[in-house]
Amino acid sequence: MSSERTLDSNTNTPTDQLESGYDVLAKRSDNIDRHASPWGDSHFQQCYSWPTTRPVLPRLTDNRVLLAGCGRGDHVPWFSDHGASVVGVDISEAAIREARQQFGDVATFHSADLTRSLDFADADSFDLVFSNLVMSHIEEWQPVFEEFHRVLVPQGDLVVATIHPRYIRSGADIESYYTLTQVMNDWPEIELPTFYRPMNAVITSFVDAGFRLRTFEEPEPPDAYEEYYPERYRKALNEPEILVVRAQADREAPSSVPSDQASRGG
Ligand SMILES: C[S@@+](CC[C@H](N)C(=O)[O-])C[C@H]1O[C@@H](n2cnc3c(N)ncnc32)[C@H](O)[C@@H]1O
Repeated sequence: MSSERTLDSNTNTPTDQLESGYDVLAKRSDNIDRHASPWGDSHFQQCYSWPTTRPVLPRLTDNRVLLAGCGRGDHVPWFSDHGASVVGVDISEAAIREARQQFGDVATFHSADLTRSLDFADADSFDLVFSNLVMSHIEEWQPVFEEFHRVLVPQGDLVVATIHPRYIRSGADIESYYTLTQVMNDWPEIELPTFYRPMNAVITSFVDAGFRLRTFEEPEPPDAYEEYYPERYRKALNEPEILVVRAQADREAPSSVPSDQASRGG
C-alpha cells in the first residue's frame, strides 16, 4: 500500500529518510525473507525484474560497469562472472559495508549520493551504467542522467530498470497524471520516499540528458512470478510493475552544444 505524504522540512529530508530506511534494511539483511527483501534475492527480482532486465543488457566483454545504487552488491557476481570490472555506488553506508564484505575482492565500492556529482569517477570511465530499482526514489532524473553521461564513454550504455510509474500510482493519492508527486512506499515498518512521474517525464529526462533510447520495455510478468505472488501476477498483466530502458550516450550531451549554436537553434 502507498499513501501520499507531505514533507516536513523540520524533520527528515527525503534523502535522510531513504538513507536511514535502506540502512535499516541492510542491517537486517540476514533476517529478511525473500518475500520482503528489497535486494536482488527477492522473489520479485528473481522471478520478474531480473529475468526481464537481463536480456536488455548489452554484451559484456572486458567492460567497465558502474552499478548505480548497487545496494549490498547482489548483482556483482553476475557482472564479474561475465568478464566486467565492476564499481558499485550506493547512498546507504550499511549496504556498502555489506557489499565490501561480500564482494570487495572482485569489485570496488563507494558510498555516495547519485543526485550529487560522482567525484570518484573521471569522465569516460565506464562502458555501462546499470541502475536496478533505484530511480523511483530519485525526484529529478535529468541531472543524475547527465552525470551518468559524463562518466560513460561516447556511445556507452545506460540500462535502467525501475518501478513502473503506473504501479507507483496504484493505490496512491495522485491528483494529476501530469504532476511529479512524492508517495511513501510502506515497506514493513520503514518508509521510503518514492516518486510518481508521467511517462513523458521519464522519456524526456533521458533524451534531454543526451541519451538516445534504444529499448523501452514494459515487461510482462513471467509465469514463474505467479508461483510466489498469484494476485500480483494477475494484476501485473494489466499494470506492469517495472519499466526497463536501454539508452546510449550520444557523443555530445545537449549541454555541451556551444552556446552560439544553441542560441541560433543549431
Ligand atoms: C531496492 S534497492 C536495490 C538495490 C540493488 N540495486 C539491488 O537490486 O539489489 C534500492 C537501492 O537504491 C539506493 N539508493 C536510493 N537512492 C539513492 C541515491 N540518491 N543515491 C545512491 N543510492 C540510492 C538505496 O540505498 C538502495 O540500496
